[in-house]
Amino acid sequence: MDFLRPASWEEALAAKAEHPTAVPIAGGTDVMVEINFDHRRPEYLLDLNRIGELSEWEVGQEKVRLGASVPYSSIMDHLRAELPGLALASHTVASPQIRNRGGVGGNLGTASPAGDAHPALLAARQAVRRPRVRRLQPDRRRARDGEVPQARGRHHGPPHARLDLGAVPRRGPHAGRSCVIMRVNFTVNGRQQEADDVWEGESLLYVLRERMGLPGSKNACEQGECGSCTVRLDGVPVCACLVAAGQVEGREVVTVEGLADYAKHREDAHPGGGCASGACGTTLDSAKRWQARPTDGQTGEAVELAPIQQAFIDAGAVQCGFCTPGLLVAADELLENTPSPSDQDIREALSGNLCRCTGYEKILDAVRLAAARQGEAAQS
Ligand SMILES: Cc1cc2nc3c(=O)[nH]c(=O)nc-3n(C[C@H](O)[C@H](O)[C@H](O)COP(=O)(O)OP(=O)(O)OC[C@H]3O[C@@H](n4cnc5c(N)ncnc54)[C@H](O)[C@@H]3O)c2cc1C
Ligand code: FES
Ligand code: FES
Repeated sequence: MDFLRPASWEEALAAKAEHPTAVPIAGGTDVMVEINFDHRRPEYLLDLNRIGELSEWEVGQEKVRLGASVPYSSIMDHLRAELPGLALASHTVASPQIRNRGGVGGNLGTASPAGDAHPALLAARQAVRRPRVRRLQPDRRRARDGEVPQARGRHHGPPHARLDLGAVPRRGPHAGRSCVIMRVNFTVNGRQQEADDVWEGESLLYVLRERMGLPGSKNACEQGECGSCTVRLDGVPVCACLVAAGQVEGREVVTVEGLADYAKHREDAHPGGGCASGACGTTLDSAKRWQARPTDGQTGEAVELAPIQQAFIDAGAVQCGFCTPGLLVAADELLENTPSPSDQDIREALSGNLCRCTGYEKILDAVRLAAARQGEAAQS
């Protein structure tokens, strides 16, 4: 497998023309499930995440132009007035974590009869604009054992940025399959990290747990159903099991291991709790300036707990604890953006996190407790 990362629509089309079998991956909430369960092994993954225009929309006098990768959560938050049917349909899709990644383009691409975006698009008579893929010469390069494929000359192939650093035969669980390995650079809990030997179909969850020794994010289903793997990607809660590792290149990830320091950093920026207006949260820029202390991320030792972690303990919201890391990350994000959440807000924010033990009441209590403590701190 090869991981292609075009930076523009033109590059993406050129890459698709050169590699017609390449499978586009946007939010990955369908594609990654198939890869995780070995139902699909595309020769190429074509990551669309770097193409800004696919995540943008334009509201005109009579038309709304919606980028194919605009996540459902943005449709719900920003286009409710213009696209009420689609916003309503978006809300019925899965969970907040899935809605933060999945979008209409992927829904159409999967073409499931159960696709929730389809009826709304049909009812509104939406037009899908499909740019043409101009077929170029097929790529006949092959990665051979121990060799790096020859770079193409200037006049061949698209100028897309590829993440593969070399074509080295894979060892380990995917040995024997035709694939290359790559390096991914990203920030985890405030520290710059480099993951080497990453297989192109590997998930962020696998990289965190197996390569970085951060086992806090749990692997309980690998299909976006349970939320135990919830982490924040550039501040947004996502299922780490459904994000391809290559998609986090250059991005910021916060796991439960970094939650206490992350909360402390937010407290310093907004003493007394989340942003008073509830509209600001921790910006990507301020997240970038934040550095975790050396003791925190790997072992969790010598770290104060985040308020939400303390509240879970105090409210008795932890039993086996398998669901707890994901719930903590999701709840912490809620309290950052909605300092005084209603019960409905809490239920909605945690709707993508399953617990098999506590029956949820204690978990709801814990979030209410953390919110109350945050409110008191804000007033004092
Ligand atoms: C736990 C769970 C629950 C779900 N619940 C629902 C639900 O309630 N309702 C529902 O409708 N869906 C549901 N889904 C399916 C999925 O979330 C949606 O289909 C989502 O819209 C996919 O978007 P994506 O960006 O993640 O697509 P991806 O997984 O990235 O891609 C999906 C397909 O579309 C293709 N594709 C993506 N972008 C483009 C593009 N720009 N051009 C051409 N092809 C493209 C890909 O190659 C792939 O074949 C669920 C998925 C999970 C894991
Ligand atoms: S392990 Fe990712 S949602 Fe269950
Ligand atoms: S405490 Fe056991 S799954 Fe939630």
